[in-house]
Amino acid sequence: MTASVASGDEGMLARRDEVVSLFTLSFGRQPAVVASAPGRVNLIGEHTDYNGGAVLPIAIAQRTWVAIGHSRDGLSRAVSRELGETGAWRHADAKATHAWWDYVAGALVSAESLGGGRSAREVAVVSDVPMGAGLSSSAALEVATILAALALEGVTLAAVGDGAVAGGSRSLRDVALAAHRTETEFVGVQCGIMDQFASALCREGHALHLRCDTAQATAVPFSRGVLIVDTMTPRALRQSAFNTRRAECESALAILRTYDPALQTLAQAAPDLLAESALPAPLDRRARHVVSEHRRVREFVSACAEGGDGERLGALLNASHRSLRDDYECSSPELDWVAEHCVARVGIDGARLTGAGWGGCAIVVGDDATLRTIAPDLSDAFETSWGHAPRTWITTPMAGARVEA
Ligand code: GLA
Repeated sequence: MTASVASGDEGMLARRDEVVSLFTLSFGRQPAVVASAPGRVNLIGEHTDYNGGAVLPIAIAQRTWVAIGHSRDGLSRAVSRELGETGAWRHADAKATHAWWDYVAGALVSAESLGGGRSAREVAVVSDVPMGAGLSSSAALEVATILAALALEGVTLAAVGDGAVAGGSRSLRDVALAAHRTETEFVGVQCGIMDQFASALCREGHALHLRCDTAQATAVPFSRGVLIVDTMTPRALRQSAFNTRRAECESALAILRTYDPALQTLAQAAPDLLAESALPAPLDRRARHVVSEHRRVREFVSACAEGGDGERLGALLNASHRSLRDDYECSSPELDWVAEHCVARVGIDGARLTGAGWGGCAIVVGDDATLRTIAPDLSDAFETSWGHAPRTWITTPMAGARVEA
């Protein structure tokens, strides 16, 4: 099995045409607007976002495309090429129904506060972001839908450069916050802000250094290649394990505050404070991961700014994986296998699990050419060890959300 290559301009145009065709076939006329938003992988900074720490995601080559138009009969509808079933609902009564179009219905509700309109709309969705792999297919759908809804109403967005909004009243940052509200308030998943910010704000050739306590973001040049390895393992326990970790982090912060009442977030706790407070197990390990991971993001960003020395980046990636495996206990045997299999090879910097963990994807960072060479062997060796092939993709940092011409 070979790693698929990032889709180029032709692929992008084809996808835009496909979503226009789907809309036209489904609703009997041309859409008014098409918008798209990418999935993401996180380079480093895992389980730090909901602890007020820093993250460093990149947008991947796979995107979700949304075509939108006003509905003519008062009913909102959504159709997806990949998910089949068409949803229909009244916008004023929109609520989560555990259907795929919850993300569309919720995003249209969230877009209202940005000027996104209150009327019924029809939406067609085409996506090549793999679903259920931990690559933020839901954030891509939320962000693309909100952007499309705003463009439909003629709301123009100010450019966001290095986290600063340059003129205009609304920005892609507002879109990211609205998409995050869709996930937490409408769909009901208590995730941090990383995924929606990455999908909305990433820039081509750059990673997004996002400080999750202030939601300030800076673009960091990143020129290494990234091989994404989806271990294709069931993630049934992920949501409950994720919620348990969040609760553990809150308990750890509450105890640390009895020593330092000024402490705002777990990520900001000083290593000395962790030592002094003698947190009970496993809270000590959870806190150690969050505090050390937050610092690793800072070091990774410095290493990128100083030329992106592969050895330095790799040491941080590998340390991140060990910390997630041993202290945060969110790895899996397959993810550990990928991380171990990829260390100490010429042209490979390092590897780690990415996203929430408990199955899902790992990333291998290195020279683009080396990644292309090792990907087929890695897939074969994985299949020999685990009895099934992984899915693999090679990407470089791609552009975030945009309205399509
Ligand atoms: C999931 C969540 C993110 C983040 C990661 C772990 O992907 O959606 O907000 O918490 O896990 O870093």
